[in-house]
Amino acid sequence: MDIGIDKIGFYVPKDYIDIVELAKRRDVDPNKFTIGIGQDKQAVPLPHQDDVTMAASSADSILTDEDKKDLGMLIVGTESSVDESKSTAAFLMDLLDLPEDIRAYEIKQACYGATAGLQAAYDFVSLNPDKKVLVIATDIARYGIKTPGEVTQGAGSVAMLISQNPRVLKLNHESVYMTKNVGDFWRPTFSKTAFARGKFSNEVYVNFFQTLWTKFQDKYSVTADDFSTMLFHIPYTKMGTKALRTLEGKVSDEKYTELTKHYQNSIKFSRDVGNLYTGSLYLGLLSYLVNGAKANENVLMFSYGSGAVGELFSAKIQPGFEQVIDKQALIDMLNNRQKISIDDYEKIYQIEYKNDTIVDPSTISDKFYLSEIKENERIYKKLK
Ligand code: HMG
Repeated sequence: MDIGIDKIGFYVPKDYIDIVELAKRRDVDPNKFTIGIGQDKQAVPLPHQDDVTMAASSADSILTDEDKKDLGMLIVGTESSVDESKSTAAFLMDLLDLPEDIRAYEIKQACYGATAGLQAAYDFVSLNPDKKVLVIATDIARYGIKTPGEVTQGAGSVAMLISQNPRVLKLNHESVYMTKNVGDFWRPTFSKTAFARGKFSNEVYVNFFQTLWTKFQDKYSVTADDFSTMLFHIPYTKMGTKALRTLEGKVSDEKYTELTKHYQNSIKFSRDVGNLYTGSLYLGLLSYLVNGAKANENVLMFSYGSGAVGELFSAKIQPGFEQVIDKQALIDMLNNRQKISIDDYEKIYQIEYKNDTIVDPSTISDKFYLSEIKENERIYKKLK
């Protein structure tokens, strides 16, 4: 039975900052941010937005009533959860009008969470072929103002509907993975911002990729020639480039040129959005699907979550995938955002809604929003 991604949707907040303006304000050569880091814009979430509202928006962009009837499970991968106890998935039940006879939960393992969800979804559909699974990656990447990680922030959500006979991407059920206790990036429960050993995190990421690529080739007796595209977790677009560069000189020049060209197509959206943490790999997939993917391509996908878990798996782009993706709507969503000043971004960054906050709906232009915090409970609403 073929199992994989039948639909894929994306949500990005409407505000962004320009990375050149950020560089100038931080007294950094803009080329360091646009070339050295590889970013152009960074999504800025508003205070009424969080992992729940963004997840609701990305899922709402793909789910039909028919899909909801067939749903057996909802998994949210996030490391930006608003509650230590209740899952993001539970908040989504009424926002998305989901049927109650489903299994819904959240997975946390840094940026790897959605990949864990995707693999669990594969297993679930194998056992329940008539059921679908909704997997959502949703995160706000925050390091803090004037930190080295600031240029690698971002926000957004990717939703994927997993089913048999998928129309977008078939998972080949070929996968290698590894876990190590590593202190490259962490966010203690008291902190809204992450801590990172930046350069060390780069090394661990690249080491994981190299180790897994060797394991993958041994396990499945394949080489780079069996793949036309490699997609990477993209905390910032230079990071995937660093992993890809480890293949230079080890694969033919033609193959390296092809992989590099396809990688460039896969990072177009991330350059304009920033780090989605759990969603980054899947935003890369979406960017590639919109910007040059071909039916029947074999792709290799590298998922990495600090702390650290890595997984390398293969998949096949399905014939007719173009008909399932609303390319123009995605491009419009990215183009119709508004640039805000660095001053406004810094002001928004400091706002944190506390208990007894009531959000005035007339100030909201997003369908899903945090409406109120009452008795320390977050209450969400959708605009009619
Ligand atoms: P930094 O110290 O500000 O930057 O930190 P740098 O000095 O390393 O410079 C960055 C690059 O810019 C270098 O290129 C410079 O040469 C170049 P590289 O050697 O890397 O190829 N550069 C210039 N290029 C052109 N013109 C110039 C110029 N000047 C310098 N004038 C760092 C950068 C990424 C470390 C920092 O932003 C950071 O700590 N970010 C957060 C951590 C991170 O993203 N790590 C990625 C791997 S871990 C991961 O992916 C997991 C994660 O998503 C979390 C999760 O799993 O949940 C983060």
